[in-house]
Amino acid sequence: MAELRVDILTLFPGMFSGPFAESIVRRAIDRDLIAIHIHNLREWGVGKHKVVDDCPFGGGAGMVMKPEPLFEAVEALRAQSSLAAPVILLTPQGRTFDQRVAAELATFDQMVLICGHYEGIDERVREGLATDEISIGDYVLTGGELAAMVVVDAVSRLVPGVLGSDESAANDSHAGGLLEYPQYTRPQTYRSRRTPDVLLSGNHAQIAKWRRERSVLRTLDRRPELLKEADLSRDERAMVSRKLMEKDQEAALSSDDGVLDAEALPRR
Ligand code: ADE
Repeated sequence: MAELRVDILTLFPGMFSGPFAESIVRRAIDRDLIAIHIHNLREWGVGKHKVVDDCPFGGGAGMVMKPEPLFEAVEALRAQSSLAAPVILLTPQGRTFDQRVAAELATFDQMVLICGHYEGIDERVREGLATDEISIGDYVLTGGELAAMVVVDAVSRLVPGVLGSDESAANDSHAGGLLEYPQYTRPQTYRSRRTPDVLLSGNHAQIAKWRRERSVLRTLDRRPELLKEADLSRDERAMVSRKLMEKDQEAALSSDDGVLDAEALPRR
């Protein structure tokens, strides 16, 4: 049995043929580490015409996904297996997906993803069927399919054995709340840009120290808000404070009128 089974409920199953047929996810499926089942919601459509959507009560533009196909599809899945799995609705109204949510989902051995579409989804699905709602960011996609692919991709690579070595996931950007350090490969010098000497030194302790420091500095530079939650040592916190003070001083010295701005200087 696979470590992780994902059931995806969608009106557009064809959308999934690309991303899961290549690269790491494909290899994980081939090695039976993950199993992805794509279900066409139309199979549970209502009546002879397999209707899956209808006009909104109260009027308004667009169509709303009917509740019955979704409830019946999830019930059919539950009948197949002991489904204590989360039932996750992909929607821009959900909690924002990040590495922490990916790690949380990777602890389950099964999950059901519902891809919303059209103008919306009947509210009873949120109330009585979905156990979680996830958004992959503050923008609106045409449907939940791409979001489901993003979630499956990010969660799959956290499943033990999916990546070549466990280390690869541990060092990822965001893994310890920090962005990843810069990487270099051959050639040593490319278009006059040199690989830092320390990486060529063979001194593993020095390399690890350099990488950790670059990881902290890069996070400070690009995503300083992440440092609040990051797991930093005392020395690292001190380095961050020092850098922040230097930055403040630079800002004070280069303020428009050339006059030192006392407010911008760090207080001691
Ligand atoms: N469906 C439409 N937009 C979405 C988003 N940003 N995240 C998840 N599902 C969506």
